[in-house]
Amino acid sequence: MTLLERTRSLQEATEGLDVKRLSERDAREWVSRLTTVLSEHADRYYALDDPLISDAEYDALIDILKQFEKTFPSLRKEDSPTRRVGAPPLDAFRKVAHPEPMLSLGNAFSTGDLTAWYERCRRRLEVGDDDLEMVAEPKIDGLAVALTYEDGILVRGATRGDGRTGEDITANVRTIKSVPLELSGEQVPQRVEVRGEVYFSRAAFDWLNERLRKEGGKPFANPRNAAAGSLRLLDSRITAGRPLSFFAYAMGPSSRVPATTHSGLLESLRSWGFEVNDHVALFPSMDAVPSYCEGLSDRRDELDYEIDGVVLKVNRLDLQAELGNVSNAPRWAIAYKFAARETTTLLEDIIVNVGRTGQMTPEAVLKPVAIGGVTVSQATLHNFDYIRERDIRPGDTVTVRRAGDVIPQVMGPVVAARTGKEDPWTPPTTCPECGTPLERLDGEVDWYCVSADCPQQFVRLLEHFASRSALDIEGLGAKLAVQLAEAGLVRHLDDVFRLAAEDLLGLDGFAERKAEKLIQAIQAARECSLSRLLFGLGIRHVGKTTAEVLVSSFDSMDALGQATTADLEQVDGVGHVIAQSVHDWFQREDNQRLLRALKDVGVNMRRLEGEQPVLVADAGSNDALHGRTVVVTGTLPTLSRQEAESLVKRFGGRTASSVSRKTSFVVVGENAGSKASKAAELGIPMISEQDLLDMITNRAE
Ligand code: IVH
Repeated sequence: MTLLERTRSLQEATEGLDVKRLSERDAREWVSRLTTVLSEHADRYYALDDPLISDAEYDALIDILKQFEKTFPSLRKEDSPTRRVGAPPLDAFRKVAHPEPMLSLGNAFSTGDLTAWYERCRRRLEVGDDDLEMVAEPKIDGLAVALTYEDGILVRGATRGDGRTGEDITANVRTIKSVPLELSGEQVPQRVEVRGEVYFSRAAFDWLNERLRKEGGKPFANPRNAAAGSLRLLDSRITAGRPLSFFAYAMGPSSRVPATTHSGLLESLRSWGFEVNDHVALFPSMDAVPSYCEGLSDRRDELDYEIDGVVLKVNRLDLQAELGNVSNAPRWAIAYKFAARETTTLLEDIIVNVGRTGQMTPEAVLKPVAIGGVTVSQATLHNFDYIRERDIRPGDTVTVRRAGDVIPQVMGPVVAARTGKEDPWTPPTTCPECGTPLERLDGEVDWYCVSADCPQQFVRLLEHFASRSALDIEGLGAKLAVQLAEAGLVRHLDDVFRLAAEDLLGLDGFAERKAEKLIQAIQAARECSLSRLLFGLGIRHVGKTTAEVLVSSFDSMDALGQATTADLEQVDGVGHVIAQSVHDWFQREDNQRLLRALKDVGVNMRRLEGEQPVLVADAGSNDALHGRTVVVTGTLPTLSRQEAESLVKRFGGRTASSVSRKTSFVVVGENAGSKASKAAELGIPMISEQDLLDMITNRAE
């Protein structure tokens, strides 16, 4: 069995296992299996920088092994993976013995764990109820290094290695811009060791992976691996081309200690020219620490680098010394770990969905897996290019990420986990629903089915037509749309109004009452406003607001149908693209037939009294978005992209077509593609259509 297979079977077998109820003989068997598998993973992670499973999966297995060792202390071995801090140094680098070991940190997974740790510190120090000052710092997801300075000059850089012996990476750390080659300021000790984290910013990581992909190289799974891989290159000229960064967070052995507190040490480090993280905070007691942790966890996507938790440290150095260490971690510090947001799982299949505009969206069918407390079995693959560029194949083990409220995404394959049986994925060239050859517009990444008779497009259109923002036919959702279309009961939108209760009774899940209710909802929809009907027709680029704007200038469907593109462009907020799209729609024979049919079944085709667009009325000179650069991506619930963009402009903002560091925020809708992932990588806030509307209307009041 491969390592991954053995790991998966261990994960399954140990789920819900009650360690305390096992016999020692059985326990020995488990410990041996866990030890072998975990040691192999640790080697891949620490020594090869090429992990097969996510950190969270590794931690979960380590946790089980710890439970065994706690229950059966005799089974605990000196070289157990639970005691391991890192990997023995690679032979290629010169070895460096650390004058003081580089320790690891104990973990806390809840604020309750933090409070318990704080109480333990107080008890050990016998300070009674007195408060202990704490420093809280983001836990940077990079690689620990120790930098030695003599007479202010950088003489050595070393990795942590196994905590006692590291690798000499002096030539490589010299290439990092935020590592000072010479310390500035006064009071620099004759000899000092500075410890901190080497990391990749999201933007730099992105840039590097893009370059590696273009050059046919293998991209890194995450910024941590990229940092580790880049620091341990034997040719420092290559490291120099990799924009690494460094945050200083501690001092190792020094000829003189320039402060009596940890916060004082950080000040000294800053004054000597190091970058110290801006989010470091000093707390007089534990009271405000949980909300600091929560705040940082909520805002982690806004940072330009990955963090995986908060490190809490006792501030006074004398108290740190008094507390001392346990085997491989200090008692005076602890890591509060955020919920994991990334894991690996099997990509069982890639399916392609057809939207109401004919847009193709590939979707990953995943072996269900828990991420941050939610079971994920589907994830977006954005578009065909995304899959090709990352070489994602059905049957691959893939990294899946779920951040905030954004739909889960497949980040890429774990290439090392391949068996050789995975074939590259071939995107369809024809619509999977109707067989029409797919087309792609110049400059767009998406492919479309352009058929007017595509059954799947019709199902999605029907769903849209009945949706809350359109005709609001309660009970007619995605599932019923499929049933109605498949049963041949609804072939055109107007057929909805010819449905009778008896027709519905033949469908799965319909009893008399439910059928009656639906028919009533359909009857009521005949009186729907003109703008809702217009929106419900699913005309490309016509979202809810454009529909409202158009209806404020044209009082009937007939008037709209007779308008020229020039007439339409007269309307405030309607540009050439929208005007053209509306005009084209009304010119089509099948659409004219549809409108006649809707009229025949009694659907309202005129502007109702009091039907007034809300947003446009109070736009005025409101500048709620002044100075903001906004990118809109994905299918928004009610606005078309053009509408959202014209709203942004009307409220003083600017729009851009691609996400960069200058983007203020990204408005994301369904099936958001690479722009959303780019935003996530750059830490740019992502908001919903409703958030955007709130921003505008709140300011307007
Ligand atoms: S202090 C003895 N502070 O987390 C305490 N570590 O799991 C040594 N890390 O090896 C570490 N950010 O690589 C400290 N602000 C921070 C940190 C930090 C990231 C890493 C570091 C360490 C690991 C422990």
